[in-house]
Amino acid sequence: MKIGFLGTGNVARALATGWAAAGHDVVLGSRKPGEREGRPDGGHPVTGLAEAVAAADVLVNATPGTASLDVLETIGAAALADKVLIDVAVGLTGDMRLSHPGVSLGEEIQAAYPDLRVVKSLCTLTAAVMVAPHLLEGPSTVFLSGDDEPAKRTVAALLTDLGWPATSLLDLGDIATARGQEHFALLFLGIAGALGTHRFNVRVVPAVPTGPGTDPA
Ligand SMILES: NC(=O)c1ccc[n+]([C@@H]2O[C@H](COP(=O)([O-])OP(=O)(O)OC[C@H]3O[C@@H](n4cnc5c(N)ncnc54)[C@H](OP(=O)(O)O)[C@@H]3O)[C@@H](O)[C@H]2O)c1
Repeated sequence: MKIGFLGTGNVARALATGWAAAGHDVVLGSRKPGEREGRPDGGHPVTGLAEAVAAADVLVNATPGTASLDVLETIGAAALADKVLIDVAVGLTGDMRLSHPGVSLGEEIQAAYPDLRVVKSLCTLTAAVMVAPHLLEGPSTVFLSGDDEPAKRTVAALLTDLGWPATSLLDLGDIATARGQEHFALLFLGIAGALGTHRFNVRVVPAVPTGPGTDPA
């Protein structure tokens, strides 16, 4: 599969390395491709944003959440139509508040580009863990949110290519559920502070079934 990244930072380079190792074609899209070529951190091809989008079946939004809508606007709706967009971004202000507190960036992107097939995923993990679930002591959970079921299946397959077993993937539902994933950033930062590392994940553990009428929730 051809995967085009919006952004050339930590997340883009980590995911590009992971998916290239799994046999996918990757290209990083930059605002300043001439300044990003040849960085000693993966050696993935770097082009302008429009070229990265045109070449790709699947896009990854790995830009700051506060800038993502501006970046997409420079690309334009026509170029984005029918593409799958894995939206990894979270909008955080300089003082670590959510820039989309009452909604989510994922929903805003989907509303602005109805023909783009947005799937929110991976934003609840640090970049190193996104591509290396084996770093964790045990099984854990990765979430997916989106309106387009085939697009979610495409993303689920790409997640398994990174090493996530199918049993780790939890489809939360439509793109409105991206809100929970993005707002988890606040708890993520709290857990990271408590543990002294960003390298962790959470696992959803359902209760043992107890029979009808006995669930107090
Ligand atoms: N880092 C993590 O572990 C992690 C985990 C979960 C979610 N996320 C989310 O994933 C996204 C990417 O994170 P990251 O750590 O990869 O960020 P980063 O290292 O700062 O990279 C962001 C990239 O976006 C591009 N960009 C486009 N417009 C920009 C603008 N106005 N200002 C700055 N950069 C702009 C830049 O590439 P060019 O300069 O080449 O255009 C830049 O390299 C963010 O939304 C973040 O919240 C990150």
